[in-house]
Amino acid sequence: MARTAPVDDWASDFDVMDPRYIADPFGIWDDLRATCPIAHTNRRGSNWLPTRYSDITAIAHDVSHFSSLEVAVIPFEGEEPEEPVLPYGLPPISSDPPLHTWSRRLLLPWFSHRRVAGYEEMTRDLCSGLIDGFIDEGKVDAAEGYAQQIPVRVIAHILGVPASLSDTFTGWVRDVLEFADDPERRMAGMEALITYFVEEVARRREQPGEDLLSELLRTEVDGAPLEEGLVLGTAALVLIAGVDTTWSAIGSSLWHLATNPEDSKRLATEPELMPTAIEELLRAYAPVTMARLVTGDVEVAGCPMKGGDRVLMNFPSANRDPEVFEDADKVRLDRAINRHVAFGSGIHRCAGSNLARMELRVALEEWLRRIPEFRLADADSVTWAGGQVRGPRVLPVVFG
Ligand code: HEM
Repeated sequence: MARTAPVDDWASDFDVMDPRYIADPFGIWDDLRATCPIAHTNRRGSNWLPTRYSDITAIAHDVSHFSSLEVAVIPFEGEEPEEPVLPYGLPPISSDPPLHTWSRRLLLPWFSHRRVAGYEEMTRDLCSGLIDGFIDEGKVDAAEGYAQQIPVRVIAHILGVPASLSDTFTGWVRDVLEFADDPERRMAGMEALITYFVEEVARRREQPGEDLLSELLRTEVDGAPLEEGLVLGTAALVLIAGVDTTWSAIGSSLWHLATNPEDSKRLATEPELMPTAIEELLRAYAPVTMARLVTGDVEVAGCPMKGGDRVLMNFPSANRDPEVFEDADKVRLDRAINRHVAFGSGIHRCAGSNLARMELRVALEEWLRRIPEFRLADADSVTWAGGQVRGPRVLPVVFG
């Protein structure tokens, strides 16, 4: 539900939670790019919204003027607890160097090509089991019944937490990311998630395993074990960063294929297109927007940004910039040159991109193998989440 008034002027008073922006932001970005490439609003503090590829990537690389200490697109406006729940935030995503540099290094091996290849078989089994459950009915909510079910289970496996709690994990992550405009719900989701990991950490200290949580507890930096706040923040980030994002990418891709039958036919009959198709779907429907905190007065493309302002890292709009992408508003499954920034740019570039790509590919491969032709059951009933992560949340399709 929108908490602020409807937007009249996107250049000077935008709101990324406006229902029109959530449902269809593409035309808004096109207009802004042509008329006012960095928009501004005073809703929820002073926020800037760049729309051009060049400005967004330049800001992403300028970590001295643009800090990651506040990456939430919607600033938290509730009452802060006296003791911060996570003293180090969610490293590495919400940190600047030097903490960023070494906390990122701890995570990278878990998402290397080799490790990710090891998760492929379980992902394929998972996808095919989900399809077994609904294929005979000739219909499914492809968001809730398929896309949403996949990444959370793979992440649960990596963290060593039970897949049976998937719906609970998903609920917490949605509270934090999708309902960020409701401070109480957001705080309750974060607290529940942290309380869960506090208990899991205590269990792992007694009974260590081979999972990411156990490994973090074994890790020493400069001869000392990691502080518990760091372990908790990192584990929470892996869940928060790995669930809504990938589920949204899978859902948006299925929405595209359901509404563009010539593309699903082509992908089903020419599977060799899959590598370029995955990149193109990530480009066109990039789900993630992040924020940066301006550290001191700085000018970008003539815009006077002040210390304490925030910038929304509009990676999805960069991906639609016609200066960089030919036919930027068209999905071309065989697009050969595709330097999209769906995974960000610079030092914070997504640490889980190998995993995300594998999950998206396997989810589409298994779906198209079994359900090569499908369409929306009712276009009006499709709903989208937006703000930090954009993707379909209700997506009824029919087939067979
Ligand atoms: C399609 C799915 C995904 C998309 C579009 C995506 C997008 C992004 C973006 C845009 C960033 C940059 C953040 C910034 O600049 O502030 C990022 C960072 C990150 N992502 Fe992903 N992500 C996805 C899936 C995943 C998965 C599956 C994981 C695994 C847990 C993951 C883990 C991370 C981590 C740890 C960072 C922080 C890296 C750093 O700060 O150095 N992401 N992601």
